[in-house]
Amino acid sequence: MDKLIIEGGVPLQGSIRVSGAKNAALPILMACLLAEGPVALSNVPRLADIRTSLKLLNILGCETTFEGNEAASRVVDLKPEAPYELVKTMRASVLCLGPLLARLGEARVALPGGCAIGARPVDLHLRGFERMGAEFEITEGFIKGRCKGGLKGAKITLDFPTVGGTENILMAASLADGPSTIENAAREPEVVDLANFLNACGAKISGHGTSVITVEGVPSLSGCDYRIMPDRIEAGTYMAAAAITGGELEILDCPFSDLDAVSYKLREMGVWLQEEEDYVLVRRANGLLKNVDVTTQPHPGFPTDMQAQLMALMCFGQGTGTIEEKIFENRFMHVLELVRLGADIRLKSRTAMVHGVGRLVGAPVMASDLRASASLVLAGLAAEGTTTIERIYHLDRGYENIEAKLSGVGARIQRVGG
Ligand code: EPZ
Repeated sequence: MDKLIIEGGVPLQGSIRVSGAKNAALPILMACLLAEGPVALSNVPRLADIRTSLKLLNILGCETTFEGNEAASRVVDLKPEAPYELVKTMRASVLCLGPLLARLGEARVALPGGCAIGARPVDLHLRGFERMGAEFEITEGFIKGRCKGGLKGAKITLDFPTVGGTENILMAASLADGPSTIENAAREPEVVDLANFLNACGAKISGHGTSVITVEGVPSLSGCDYRIMPDRIEAGTYMAAAAITGGELEILDCPFSDLDAVSYKLREMGVWLQEEEDYVLVRRANGLLKNVDVTTQPHPGFPTDMQAQLMALMCFGQGTGTIEEKIFENRFMHVLELVRLGADIRLKSRTAMVHGVGRLVGAPVMASDLRASASLVLAGLAAEGTTTIERIYHLDRGYENIEAKLSGVGARIQRVGG
């Protein structure tokens, strides 16, 4: 298995361009199942999960291509079943449920199972579909759904603003018979990007980005050409890289307005952020960082996907800060690995107390999930000596060309196989 070797201590200098957003591209690829015409997507990041999604589209009866950062999909002969072998490698496969129910009136999707950061149930997805007339049974590890007579528009109130649940229900409602309302909907920018894509295909969606989304179902959707939004979490990760190494980076194609909660916390810590014409300039304000308290929340609150990266940065802040993880029940797998590098972090239930130690010392560490891996890369960039990160296939799920992007701004980082 590949690993990354990082010689820390280099203040990063230069420009990094943000790639397309993984968490927008994944639902938009599943939404291609709804389109009766060809779809052409640009700014698609070259990531493992994207390749897995394209493989799933092929299994479900689509022809796809993926050249550079351009992907295309065309429905040829839709099939209703997403197999376990594929779903177990990528939980977001469950996002094919809504489109298959909408197009075929049936779907069989392997239960995704848990993952490192939590149980990740899909009960809210299923409740929403049931409100639209679908019926489900869960047998032999599969979610088997059907809706005789097709989905009907409905008023759906989510117990929690689930991102995937909002996206799945939104895709199904686009082709349902009659109007739907999704209350307590997720407000994440990636949900907005999906809604914009669906509207480009002829859907009638409004209110996306707020807690109440309304959808007027239409009989069919066409294809379209669409550019995936830039990845706000990748952008936030590289902002943290500039701050943790004491360097200065220009973040190009940065969706800065989607990062208000992140930029607020970074500024509170003493990071200087300046939005220019087509980049955001990031560096420490006066050399010192001070620790803060943060709680992860649904958007527009502080994103859980930036929690691990902020924790790495806080190892270099003065004083003690707290990080409360309120979205996932087990998203502190990076803590013990950071402690191996010399961090002083104590866990109490879902809160981490981070006492800034001001220096970390390189050591071999293990990646456990996507954002934990990013946290270890950040720590390695600032640690003294050599940090070796194993199991970086986790990292490859969400960061396009990370070692090339970091080497390009001075990091001493290399990937070794085996
Ligand atoms: C999406 O996951 C993202 N993944 C995650 O990013 C992100 O962390 C998460 O949203 C929160 O922002 C993609 O978009 C592909 P949720 P999702 O449904 O949709 C509970 C990354 O690092 N829940 O909003 O699975 C659930 O258990 C990944 O890029 C239910 O209880 O997140 C969790 O505790 C990690 N029942 C909470 O809600 C349900 O039916 C948030 O889940 C659905 C969710």
